[in-house]
Amino acid sequence: MYRTHNCGELRIADKGKKVVLSGWIQRVRDKGSIKWVDLRDRFGLTQMILEEGVSDPALIEMSKGFGREFVIQVEGEVSERFSKNPELSTGDIEIRPEKIEVLNESKTPPFTIEEESDGGEELRMKYRYLDLRRPPLQRNITLRHKLLQETRKCLDGFGFTEIETPFLIKSTPEGARDYVVPSRLHPSEFYALPQSPQTFKQLLMISGYDRYFQIVKCFRDEDLRADRQPEFTQIDCEMSFVSMEDVMETFEGLIKELFKNVLGTELPEYERISYSESMHRFGTDRPDMRFGMELVHLEEHAKGKGFKVFDDSERVVGVVLEGGSSYSRKQIDALTDFVRRPQVGAGGLVYVKYNDGELKSSVDKFFSKEELRSWMDHANAGKEDMLLILAGEANRTLFAASELRLELGDRLGLRKKEEFKPLWVYDFPMFEYDEEGKRFNAIHHPFTSPKKEHLALIETDPGSLLANAYDMVINGVEVGGGSVRIHKRDVQEKVFKALGLTEEEANEKFGFLMEALEYGAPPHGGIAFGFDRLCSIMGGSESIRDYIAFPKNNAARDVMLNSPSMISEEQLKELNLKVRG
Ligand code: AMO
Repeated sequence: MYRTHNCGELRIADKGKKVVLSGWIQRVRDKGSIKWVDLRDRFGLTQMILEEGVSDPALIEMSKGFGREFVIQVEGEVSERFSKNPELSTGDIEIRPEKIEVLNESKTPPFTIEEESDGGEELRMKYRYLDLRRPPLQRNITLRHKLLQETRKCLDGFGFTEIETPFLIKSTPEGARDYVVPSRLHPSEFYALPQSPQTFKQLLMISGYDRYFQIVKCFRDEDLRADRQPEFTQIDCEMSFVSMEDVMETFEGLIKELFKNVLGTELPEYERISYSESMHRFGTDRPDMRFGMELVHLEEHAKGKGFKVFDDSERVVGVVLEGGSSYSRKQIDALTDFVRRPQVGAGGLVYVKYNDGELKSSVDKFFSKEELRSWMDHANAGKEDMLLILAGEANRTLFAASELRLELGDRLGLRKKEEFKPLWVYDFPMFEYDEEGKRFNAIHHPFTSPKKEHLALIETDPGSLLANAYDMVINGVEVGGGSVRIHKRDVQEKVFKALGLTEEEANEKFGFLMEALEYGAPPHGGIAFGFDRLCSIMGGSESIRDYIAFPKNNAARDVMLNSPSMISEEQLKELNLKVRG
């Protein structure tokens, strides 16, 4: 028997018991006549003590060869510790070994395998299997496991059937590039890996499965960020005979259940705001609702007064920093640097605040005190506050203002990890105009149904159409998105046409779906959640990588496997791919 107990299990009540433990040596502390060895497994840490004059001298001798991460088996008695460690669940006891066996030696690991590691990100990625031994990652992966189990249990309870769909498919458009797989049997032809199972789940509704779900890998070749991976997991769902309201209600229920069962947290009521309201109030379609600081629109107050920067701007938008009047020049400069960062993209930052009872601003030359006061009044800013203003082209300015709002929220400590504020954003526009490509793109995807009452405008003014689409946002993260689908062929044809697809192109790409819509497709709709993002929100981390056992780095590389990598000339030939010159 390798063990009678695990390393997190023994308590003072076990005093006197003969036990066997197996695990990794985390640390050896040598105090001359006494030596402590910490033994670790995924359940915890147990201390073992070797004492001169008490322990078997052969064991003391043997322990001289111990190194970090050796795998050992210890047989001995549980005894009460002289000095207890209240931080540790096993902190009242230690093991007095009678027999030790080294099950395997270990090279010295390249970084410390403890709660906090001294290893850099890249090194820990290269030795991911060692990093995964650390308690924080073990907690994350266990949280992920729990969430997986609860999701299945809950959706099964809601009457959803789990159905797997293929990975070797043809492109499903979700707005990213496809990963493709060459076909050996069909020279010059490629499969695409699914960006999502979107078309399959719609076909399953046509097949009458009524409620489908799948916890599924999706593949997207897109720029990576902390909340994006090239392969990630979705909880993908679809339902028949539903309106937008039905879908929102069902999945609000799912997420509430998951938070309750996994974290023991009751989520507050969901707020619901339209896309246009969200953009107006927060400058983004995924606002963090844990704090206020809504945007203040100052165009009417600040334009047309001869200040060229404002006069030439589509938007003049303010954010009030409560208590900001005490900000020094240096602190304001730091905020200006923040908004000028390329990731935020603003040209500059204007401030207005009281200094010794008098209004001061960085645009004093252009505006009277009365004008500045009218802005402060409009923004509901008091004597202790500071009004920060951004101006420029509409989208860029709203984006920069929303980033500034988040930054200020962070500085004021208003974005607490343990607080959750869920929200639905709905009624997204159907299309957005792509200036570069000179055409319309679908904001959600082309299978989303436009609002019935807007459909008449699809040919003349596609930009004005709203869609039956919704996103679930928690704490400023888009955790899920979905829509009610088109279930009639003629509507689907119109949408493809509005997207600039010719009839032939539409047929070549999606003929199978359009034909299926002609065989009694029921009204249907659904949603997909970013499973990794749900994990990271629940676990309180920004990065989804911390919840994926073997993630890719920011350059979409697996540094442990060293993948992607070249393949042999032989393989290339077999696949009918051009041999490197
Ligand atoms: P969408 O493209 O919005 O919708 O994706 C759904 C959710 O998946 C998560 N997500 C990602 N997570 C990690 N890395 C990525 N690269 C990544 N991309 C997306 C997000 C997002 O909200 N088929 C539709 C769903 C539907 O209409 O039912 C779809 O895939 O949390």
